[in-house]
Amino acid sequence: MTDVTLVPWSAADLDLLRRANTPELMDQMGGPETDEQVIARHARYQRIRQEGTGFQFRIVIPGHPEGVGMVGYWDLEHGEERAFESGWSVEAEYRGRGIAPAAVRAMLDLARASGDLRPVHAYPRVDNLASNVVCRKAGYTLLGPLEFEIKPGLVLHTNDWVYDLTAPSA
Ligand SMILES: CC(C)(COP(=O)(O)OP(=O)(O)OC[C@H]1O[C@@H](n2cnc3c(N)ncnc32)[C@H](O)[C@@H]1OP(=O)(O)O)[C@@H](O)C(=O)NCCC(=O)NCCS
Repeated sequence: MTDVTLVPWSAADLDLLRRANTPELMDQMGGPETDEQVIARHARYQRIRQEGTGFQFRIVIPGHPEGVGMVGYWDLEHGEERAFESGWSVEAEYRGRGIAPAAVRAMLDLARASGDLRPVHAYPRVDNLASNVVCRKAGYTLLGPLEFEIKPGLVLHTNDWVYDLTAPSA
């Protein structure tokens, strides 16, 4: 099992977010952000915990206290379902070692322990092979394709995966 530790997002994590703001990574979400947008996202990641609307974590592996990626979940903001949405990323040089699946499983354990057992969705783009693999490895179930218009004229073709926090953990 890959050795990962999740650390709640803190003021110290702005550089981690700046490192993640690459075209390749942010293409999944509509493109890289301006530094103002990154700073706003950093503030949001700290605020959601205080507001009780989500949890964001730095992913730490041995020898890398600065973090090699991030994982989190937050209130689903579309549709009628009371559910969570989840998301993750790992810096390019640390990929392919099973860090994301281990971090997602650790996040799901923390979500389960928090006692709010709403379904946890994830929406990787259909062409994002690695992230769809992470969903499968972490125990999510594929519901099917789903399209999102994230900006006027910009449609993301995603897969809707869901994880049931009431099921016994594998
Ligand atoms: C998706 C992501 C988090 C996976 O993280 P990870 O820690 O590399 O996950 P894994 O080690 O389990 O690898 C998952 C798959 O990535 C692919 N992969 C393997 N080595 C890789 C490498 N060096 N570089 C890129 N992808 C690789 C493989 O398909 C692998 O599946 P396999 O183990 O069945 O062969 C990471 O690729 C990433 O940050 N991508 C950009 C951000 C992103 O897409 N986030 C999700 C938005 S929904």
